[in-house]
Amino acid sequence: MKMNDYDLMNKQAELLLEDERDYVPALANISALIFESLDRLNWAGFYLMDRGSLLLGPFQGRVACIRIQVGKGVCGTAVDEDRSIVVPDVHEFPGHIACDSASESEIVVPIHWGGQTVGVLDIDSPVKERFGEAEKEGFEELVRIIEKYVDFSRLIL
Ligand code: SME
Repeated sequence: MKMNDYDLMNKQAELLLEDERDYVPALANISALIFESLDRLNWAGFYLMDRGSLLLGPFQGRVACIRIQVGKGVCGTAVDEDRSIVVPDVHEFPGHIACDSASESEIVVPIHWGGQTVGVLDIDSPVKERFGEAEKEGFEELVRIIEKYVDFSRLIL
């Protein structure tokens, strides 16, 4: 079977996460891994639940907005609706929060732990339609690995 970009990246993610389960170093390394494994990305990182809203977590890319309310933007909508959201053109998504004006498309995948939503994986691209079904499957598999290995117990949800 031919390995695609996501198979290889996700295998490396699993090896990284076996070593350290604390969410700060684990997610910092995963954001770096995503950023260096895939092309045409301008932001890759995490927003984590903190006292009822999403707080900026480890990421690679330009400085980003710090807090996002549930139901707002792509990230808050993914939490509210509890599903992955692929946005082919961010200018067409009502309420999209533009952190980096270079962003043209985006994918957000919710992360669950202990039966609760603990945050989201958020990836931005400077080109439209960067993310489709294969990318959604690849990032959802990465999130399943994160859910299996990472310890989110220090979060205050
Ligand atoms: N675009 C996101 C905000 C976070 S930045 O992309 C890093 C949103 O609409 O939720």
